[in-house]
Amino acid sequence: MVREQLKGKNIVITGASGGIGAEIARLCAASGSNLVLLARSIDKLVQLQNQLQQKHQVKVDVYQLDVSDTNQVKEVFTDIFIKMGHVDILVNNAGFGIFREAHQASFDEIKGMFDVNVVGLMACTSMVLPKMRERRFGHIINIASQAGKIATPKSSVYSATKHAVLGYTNALRMEVSDFNVLVTSVNPGPIATNFFNIADEKGTYVKNVQRFMLQPEYVAGKVVDSMLKKTREINLPRWMNMGSIVYVLFPRLFERLGKKAFNQK
Ligand SMILES: NC(=O)c1ccc[n+]([C@@H]2O[C@H](COP(=O)([O-])OP(=O)(O)OC[C@H]3O[C@@H](n4cnc5c(N)ncnc54)[C@H](OP(=O)(O)O)[C@@H]3O)[C@@H](O)[C@H]2O)c1
Repeated sequence: MVREQLKGKNIVITGASGGIGAEIARLCAASGSNLVLLARSIDKLVQLQNQLQQKHQVKVDVYQLDVSDTNQVKEVFTDIFIKMGHVDILVNNAGFGIFREAHQASFDEIKGMFDVNVVGLMACTSMVLPKMRERRFGHIINIASQAGKIATPKSSVYSATKHAVLGYTNALRMEVSDFNVLVTSVNPGPIATNFFNIADEKGTYVKNVQRFMLQPEYVAGKVVDSMLKKTREINLPRWMNMGSIVYVLFPRLFERLGKKAFNQK
């Protein structure tokens, strides 16, 4: 499906070497966007670049980037601006989680998750914001999670990173609203990607939630459909979002009744 509004737009996607990021890249390429794909696995990026260029005759640049390295972020984005001139849409998708109880999480894991999921996302955003504000045009899409709305056991650190992403995203939306810059958060429940290879090393969570896992193509489609449209949040699946609304209204009751359901990991 061609999304006309994306034709010729410059779109940067972090964490594009697999999962949702790669699916978003596929859909944007099919709509004729110019793409910049970022991740650490440069071989996977080059493979995707070749596929997309051959299939859709679009311009695709790739950079090896660890978003937790803020010096690298600065260098890569400076180069992107030299080559592209401007960025229309930034999708902050790079992220990972490790499911462990708080007392078992090592300092390295805690720091690692915050450096990638939070600091990396903010660093990439900081690089595109001045120009978006100046041009009075742009869209920042932050892939957060339902874990940013409801914190669950064994996901204390990961949930904390995604709560941070939502806090940042909500404030940013208000800061830039007078500059015609759009800001969207995406809060999916479990999606069938390689995310769980790291997050759920025992496979318990995947086994328990397999029946209602979202497909990455579906989530990517929702993200791409929101591009350049004023969309505050994308919450998937809808029933899970209903849960987060009830949680805000009745937290104590929700935690008591939901304890068993939350302990899926
Ligand atoms: N899967 C889920 O259930 C789920 C649910 C809600 C939200 N999310 C969020 O969705 C986003 C994408 O996850 P996914 O499910 O597509 O997982 P995935 O398949 O594991 O993809 C994660 C992507 O992030 C990149 N990445 C990880 N660390 C990075 C770093 N330090 N610097 C740059 N890129 C990095 C990975 O590329 P390299 O390894 O090549 O760097 C990969 O391209 C994440 O933010 C995740 O928290 C996932």
